[in-house]
Amino acid sequence: MNAAASALMRARSALTDLHPLPDDIAADAVAGLSKTPKTLPSKYFYDAEGSRLFEAITRQPEYYLTGTELALLEASLPSIAQAIGPGVHVVEYGSGSGRKTELLLESLHDVVAYTAVEISRTALIESTARLSQQFPQIEMLPVCADFTRPLALPGAKRPAQRTVMFFPGSTLGNFTTDEAARLLVAMRQTMGAHGCALIGIDLDKDDALIEAAYNDAAGVTAQFTLNLLARLNREIGSDFDLGGFRHKAVYARERGRIETFLVSQRAQSVQLAGRTFDFAADEAMQVEYSHKYTDAGFNALATHAGLRTTHGWNDARDWFGLRLLQPA
Ligand code: TRP
Repeated sequence: MNAAASALMRARSALTDLHPLPDDIAADAVAGLSKTPKTLPSKYFYDAEGSRLFEAITRQPEYYLTGTELALLEASLPSIAQAIGPGVHVVEYGSGSGRKTELLLESLHDVVAYTAVEISRTALIESTARLSQQFPQIEMLPVCADFTRPLALPGAKRPAQRTVMFFPGSTLGNFTTDEAARLLVAMRQTMGAHGCALIGIDLDKDDALIEAAYNDAAGVTAQFTLNLLARLNREIGSDFDLGGFRHKAVYARERGRIETFLVSQRAQSVQLAGRTFDFAADEAMQVEYSHKYTDAGFNALATHAGLRTTHGWNDARDWFGLRLLQPA
């Protein structure tokens, strides 16, 4: 057996499977389309094609988030590692196969174990297998679960001093404020009394810069949001006309978030799961929020969740921030 195959086998045998409920795409789509205004659940953006398109978004010149966060992480890691201390169990929400995970595992002092928490079993096993080949000295303890709930972490063979929850990419901002607060509470419970969380947040800035990031000139973001309709057509046999909808993203400063919509170009109806949904011309269906944070807003959210910010790092332009939180 080759090294990659045995890494896959080891990842599979280390898996803690908390049997998250399988997604019910049709039921979620029907529920969203029955609301006024209509919505579609953003968690379905990331099928194979959606993940490929998101990678392409991160390479668009207007999408400053990924590059800024990566450079900030790279520059701040010595001081982050010092603030966190040695003997850590790193827990990441999402499958974490990217450059940010590698940097963190390379730079923290004495990483005992790494847990990716991911709802897709296949993505989880593959990313764990890849990381275990790269970091053979770190115990890999993958957990297949819905990360919006608190979970009991598998214990490492060599006990860790501290659990560090890693949540980059300003993904926290894709949740509503209530959901984000609940997620932070779940993180607090999972990290334990001595744990901490390292969270990446996109900071409030000039409207035009934010809007450009979600309306790139090459139209990759438009393809990405329209892929949600293509995915529904593929997987549950709906009949969205992809040419009948256009992508629109606007910064709603009073709510501190980018709001992304798919706008119906004309009056039309769509068949989905045996039901008919009517769209008026110019009707906007809401598909994603991306909150942008001020220090005051983020600290209020953390306090509400029983956490306090102990350290923070921003890039030189104050476009993106990393925050270290611990139980208050
Ligand atoms: N977490 C990313 C963000 O909020 C996801 C994302 C980027 C996104 N561009 C998008 C989601 C466009 C929906 C639409 O920046």
